Amino acid sequence: MKLLNPNTRVVVLTGAGISAESGIRTFRAAEGLWEEHRIEDVATPEGWRRDPELVWSFYQGRRRQLLDVLPNPAHDALVDLEEYLGENLLLVTQNVDDLHSRAGSNNLIHMHGELRKLRCELCEVVVEAMEGVHLQDDFVTCQECPTGRLRPHIVWFTEMPFDMEKINAAVFECDVFIAIGTSGHVYPAAGLLAIAQMRGAYCIGVNLDPPENVDFFDEFHQGRAGEILPDLVTQWVGNEEE
Ligand code: OAD
Repeated sequence: MKLLNPNTRVVVLTGAGISAESGIRTFRAAEGLWEEHRIEDVATPEGWRRDPELVWSFYQGRRRQLLDVLPNPAHDALVDLEEYLGENLLLVTQNVDDLHSRAGSNNLIHMHGELRKLRCELCEVVVEAMEGVHLQDDFVTCQECPTGRLRPHIVWFTEMPFDMEKINAAVFECDVFIAIGTSGHVYPAAGLLAIAQMRGAYCIGVNLDPPENVDFFDEFHQGRAGEILPDLVTQWVGNEEE
């Protein structure tokens, strides 16, 4: 069904499921473990304070993995959607990988941070650091204030996601809200669907399993995003013959 025209305001929220077919494991696939680690150990400020070596080497491993993975057809489909909608599409991702930007999405917010970037614990300068020297297991010091140590530019549990004001404003005003590959467990991201629904947006879900908040969708498509999203996007924008 043709759902969109170039003036439709759309917010897309993506989660780990959209990168699964690129070979990056989702968070809740293995009984609360993320690549064999408890989330409390590697994704909290307390974990970082308790064992910075473990947390640093964990994220360095995830950063190095970016060099081995590629965007999949679901990422590409969202680039096509942006080509059609222009600035009327805001893509909000919970993913810390760089696959949306490598596919070519521009109007993109990484609400949980980015693996590609590091941030000084003292002066808070953010640097893009993907050269060999930045990918090793030794700590990297800040170039701006040499006593500062760099930490992953990742939002850990209990920390505030980035750009929430801009995200909330876009969700408040959107006509269509689409959530892809997210389990609906982690707030505030999981709450955006309910906000969109209450504000009258048409809400669509695309996920392998029904997520926690499935009842808020007007339309739910169950399957692998890389397999079903390209056709859905073609339908939403309407193809040439229509
Ligand atoms: P989850 O691991 O919680 O959920 C991934 C969802 O993707 C699940 O519902 C799967 O069924 C679905 N899925 C798996 N493969 C898929 C595929 N090929 N196509 C479509 N769906 C698929 O990941 P998120 O919801 O992204 O936060 O997790 C949210 C946040 O929790 C993450 O951003 C991270 C984590 O702790 C931080 O790091 C701050």
